[in-house]
Amino acid sequence: MKKLIVSMLFFSVLSWAGENAQRVKEMKIFSAAVELIQKGILYNCKDCIDDGADRVLKNIKLLEEIKDVKEFLPKEQKYAYKFAQKTAKLIEMYAKDLKDQAVDPKNINMQDVINDYSQIIVQCTSCHMRVRGW
Ligand code: HEC
Repeated sequence: MKKLIVSMLFFSVLSWAGENAQRVKEMKIFSAAVELIQKGILYNCKDCIDDGADRVLKNIKLLEEIKDVKEFLPKEQKYAYKFAQKTAKLIEMYAKDLKDQAVDPKNINMQDVINDYSQIIVQCTSCHMRVRGW
């Protein structure tokens, strides 16, 4: 019995570590995507904005699948899953808006682009605040 409990504990720690490593890998994709959008703004590269938004959208589904946010949280939070979904929806909305902007580079509204970019960062950070206990 004791052996069983120990091995169960071991495997749950193992799968937690595995999921976390996976999460970090996915987060790095997000990070590169957001940097690309920023580059687009700073260097006046409209394609970078489009490409960055594409990468965010490709990666976004994983956020909706985060059922385990509460695993990372200091305190038990019942609505962590719903929170992750809501955050994902907002990031998706702003990334889609960026893509709409980039369709017509001549008439791009940079004020809107900057706003979308900032709102994406706000959403990223709002989850990290919870996860990291900031
Ligand atoms: C629903 C929650 C959630 C959202 C939203 C979220 N992240 Fe994360 N992020 C995590 C978790 C969990 C980790 C791993 C734990 C940690 O680093 O504190 C993480 C870690 C990271 C890391 C550190 C990776 C490493 O190498 O340690 C980066 C960079 C990152 N996220 C970028 C982003 C960006 C950019 C966005 C927005 C586009 C974003 N994240 C949105 C949950 C989230």
